[in-house]
Amino acid sequence: MEVVILPGSRQIGRLAADAIEALLRQKPDAVLGLATGSSPLPVYDELSRRHLEEGLDFSRAHAFALDEYVGLEPGHPESYREVIRREFTDRVNIDPANVHSPDGTAEDLQAACQEYEDAIRERGGVDLQILGVGTDGHIGFNEPGSSLVSRTRIKTLIEQTRKDNARFFRSIDDVPHHVVTQGLGTILDARHVILLATGAQKAQAVRDFVEGPVAAICAASVLQLHPHATILIDEAAASSLRLADYYRHAFENKPKWQGL
Ligand code: F6R
Repeated sequence: MEVVILPGSRQIGRLAADAIEALLRQKPDAVLGLATGSSPLPVYDELSRRHLEEGLDFSRAHAFALDEYVGLEPGHPESYREVIRREFTDRVNIDPANVHSPDGTAEDLQAACQEYEDAIRERGGVDLQILGVGTDGHIGFNEPGSSLVSRTRIKTLIEQTRKDNARFFRSIDDVPHHVVTQGLGTILDARHVILLATGAQKAQAVRDFVEGPVAAICAASVLQLHPHATILIDEAAASSLRLADYYRHAFENKPKWQGL
């Protein structure tokens, strides 16, 4: 796990975009894993800028979203399918047919989860997965207690997560209780994961998953088992880390050719 501490979200967005750009230049039909929420927005802004101003090409890329609320009608502005479209994929030249989300409206949700797993596998797996982290340490919507080898399935949100996400809805009563999310095992299969976290409200979760034990109580800690996990955080999110100085030293002395 590589921890990179940066001054703020603009720098985080640029560094994550550098990794995605390098991947697309080397593999134009790369498979991207997309998260929603506030954390990835600077990355999507930077990628769309590079597309518009520098011609960064997504025409052959594919994308799979991490998760989706259960029961929001198709086209609901807060369904993650819509959020991904609005915040990212409509702003670059990715083919909408290549952008996939779990189906939170399927009559047979379990079958839809299996189909989603199959679709990721048939596309060759995710090359680069963008992640945020919840204040309770969730990634995707793998809440505390999630199996470390779980696959795409239905989960029940913890009340704190519904409160955290209420800012996107008219009221907390509108935040669904259930979601479909890629599992921790699904996320671990991605070839590279980049997790982004900013702000003091994430400091405890960051400390727990980076330096605490690997345990289902903090789902993101499973990333300690990933061979290529990059954690991009700002000073506030890094403020509880014991080894912050070491992470800074290691990154400052990293040869540039290594990339992320
Ligand atoms: C979103 C997702 C969640 C968020 C997490 C942090 O697709 O999977 O794990 O990444 O809840 O959300 P923000 O970035 O809004 O703090």
